[in-house]
Amino acid sequence: MKQEATIFDFQAEAGLTKHLGSFEATVKLAQLCHIDADSYVLDAGCGAGMTPYYLAKTYGCRVVGVDIRERMVQRSRERAQRGRLESLLEFRVANIQELPFEEETFDVLLSESVTVFPPDKQQTMRQYLHVLKPGGYVGLNESTWLKMPVPDEIMAWAAQDYGAQITSAFTAEGWAEQLRQAGFADVSATIYHLDLRSSVSGFFKRYGMRNVFRAWGRALRMYVRDPDYRAFLQKTRKGGVMPENLFEYLCYGLYVARKPMEEAR
Ligand SMILES: C[S@@+](CC[C@H](N)C(=O)[O-])C[C@H]1O[C@@H](n2cnc3c(N)ncnc32)[C@H](O)[C@@H]1O
Repeated sequence: MKQEATIFDFQAEAGLTKHLGSFEATVKLAQLCHIDADSYVLDAGCGAGMTPYYLAKTYGCRVVGVDIRERMVQRSRERAQRGRLESLLEFRVANIQELPFEEETFDVLLSESVTVFPPDKQQTMRQYLHVLKPGGYVGLNESTWLKMPVPDEIMAWAAQDYGAQITSAFTAEGWAEQLRQAGFADVSATIYHLDLRSSVSGFFKRYGMRNVFRAWGRALRMYVRDPDYRAFLQKTRKGGVMPENLFEYLCYGLYVARKPMEEAR
């Protein structure tokens, strides 16, 4: 039976993915994880490959990006080729719950708006721990609830595809506790409030006008040619507009921690 396409399948087709906080959040996360030219970095759930591209271009470091969707991986490779950064960038199809790497491979593992999706957060975080070298940094950007309980209308919006199913987010303390439970040390959590205006401008800053127009062109072609895409848009329209009080409850957090050195384990 054909599986129903999700928002990520359409984003992969358009060649454009996003996370809360956009470009500025990536810049901060890279700094907090002390990335430099010698870092070997894994981007877990790299989407259309923008963060690996940014890191390789800015720091000259080697980056591996993995995503569960083949099409995302293809888009990421295309971006690396266009930017002539293939020598620093590698992309693979992989599930973050079963990372196909040896123990102690990476200096830094970043994951932006991905860890919230698999149901078993501990399994995922233990995978992160496994592939990091002792002393290595994990840096997460995750959807975060500012306060609980979250009203039903917000949960309903978050549960539909356009809200990208962020219902299993935590508060900042909840995310920090998940990292500690998995075995990470020196856990820090910083939250950032959201507003629509800076989210939109950050998005343009991240991709640049040319890439946004390229993606809009692809989305338009999809709209004309793909009945599944039209049905998806119709369904999300029925799912309702973004609740007005969303940002009273939803923010994003940057969570940074380290894999303990061997003697501390
Ligand atoms: C919100 S997008 C973020 C993409 C990218 N990190 C960015 O900031 O643009 C979430 C991505 O996670 C991927 N994803 C979801 N579940 C995954 C899993 N279990 N393993 C690997 N990737 C996954 C999706 O295919 C999608 O590309």
